[in-house]
Amino acid sequence: MNQDSLTITDNRTGKTYEVPLEHGTLRAMDLRQIKAAAGDFGLMSYDPGYLNTASCKSQITFIDGDQGILRYRGFPIEQLAEKSSFLEVAYLLYFGNLPCAEELSIWDRGIRYHTMVHEGVKRFLDGFRYDAHPMGILVSTIAALSTFYPEAKNIFDPEMRKIQYYRLVAKMPTLAAFAYRHRMGMPYVYPDNSLTYAENFLNMMFHGMEPVGDRHLSLDHIPELARVLDILFILHADHEQNCSTSAIRMVGSAQTDPFTAISAAAAALYGPLHGGANEAVLRMLREIGSRDKIPAFVQEVKAGNKLLYGFGHRVYKSYDPRAKIIKRAADQVFEILGRNPLIDIALELERIALEDEYFVKRKLYPNVDFYSGIIYEAFGFPTDMFPVLFAIARASGWYTQWEENLKDDEQKIARPRQVYLGSGETAYVPQEICLPGSEKAIAYKTIQPTKR
Ligand code: CMC
Repeated sequence: MNQDSLTITDNRTGKTYEVPLEHGTLRAMDLRQIKAAAGDFGLMSYDPGYLNTASCKSQITFIDGDQGILRYRGFPIEQLAEKSSFLEVAYLLYFGNLPCAEELSIWDRGIRYHTMVHEGVKRFLDGFRYDAHPMGILVSTIAALSTFYPEAKNIFDPEMRKIQYYRLVAKMPTLAAFAYRHRMGMPYVYPDNSLTYAENFLNMMFHGMEPVGDRHLSLDHIPELARVLDILFILHADHEQNCSTSAIRMVGSAQTDPFTAISAAAAALYGPLHGGANEAVLRMLREIGSRDKIPAFVQEVKAGNKLLYGFGHRVYKSYDPRAKIIKRAADQVFEILGRNPLIDIALELERIALEDEYFVKRKLYPNVDFYSGIIYEAFGFPTDMFPVLFAIARASGWYTQWEENLKDDEQKIARPRQVYLGSGETAYVPQEICLPGSEKAIAYKTIQPTKR
């Protein structure tokens, strides 16, 4: 018998099957041969939320959640955060190797060349309401890029794909900053290609703005702060098969052009369970208000009445390696901009939680969102820009994952199965009459608009 296999006995029929294993997985299609009776559809696996289903083979990002390891293309995140720039990491993700000096210079020049957006994008942006959420604007403008670059549909042309990657990485900060400026009613600031990637973004965001609150991000701070932002971009560049990455693989499997597919990934990120937890951390810290209120808050969490946002992770069952790096970056930011008072509450909250049996037993540690929001706030980014910052960085990972999926011969258009639990065949009955008091009549009444 093949040692790398699984023997399954179907207790319904008494039949035994040997199913091969590869990379610690069995192929779901191998279950189809297991039938209760001839003509039966065959066995499927049921996995809502994909808790235990590998949807692809990938060579991009490795995570070991128990050990707290994150690597892009084999390189530990700690080394990349210390030694690389975000553009180098974006190159690494897409091309699979770190660039040599000449490759980096060509790549960097190419990105600077593509930072402008078509003037039509600006007019399109102007159509949004003054208070539109910047993430809603970003999702729409990324999708709109596909109409400005219809050649992006040539997805089987490697050169075309490469050009779209340049365009995407280069234009994300411009779209993000324009979304913010529109919201503030401020004139757009065009990219300044003499600046580095993060400097350019900060300049497009804050040029001509008053410092926010008691913190003072002035243009003089940009070179120092740009390095911190660059590190945050590195940490967010990819995170293997999460909700938004799975979304782009799924949409891309229909051979959709990359810009439209990326907008679907950004739409997934928009959800509060994905890109919005750092905002929830800020709200939580403000609600706690002072260090002496922490024990009472922790009691509420342990009683199941509250969630400790920024703690816990589906994959990491030890300290999220990104959180460690962000904690250090916070110190650098506060040295320049002054201390965000919320950091003291966060540090004490972390100390108390990490010593508490409840969190220890459940392996709940700070995740990437615990400190990132505090830093973003210190920069002067409004909270609804947090997912937008995440999206700027993650676009490189999304694109790389989209292309890997496209080139994978094993992939097909994504089409999950379902377990149908609805009615059996039902004879058609005309439905124009709703009997008074019937369920349908009551439901109809409740959805009528209320008169003012
Ligand atoms: N505060 C209090 N209790 C928690 C928390 C938390 N933050 N996270 C998990 N638990 C408890 C949970 O109640 C459960 O307890 P019990 O066993 O008594 O029922 C146990 O820990 C296991 O939790 P789970 O819900 O099964 O874990 P999960 O893997 O389904 O959820 C999570 C992971 C991230 C959704 C969850 O930890 C959470 O809601 N955290 C707060 C929100 C947050 O910080 N999200 C950012 C995630 S990192 C961003 C990214 O990488 O995309």
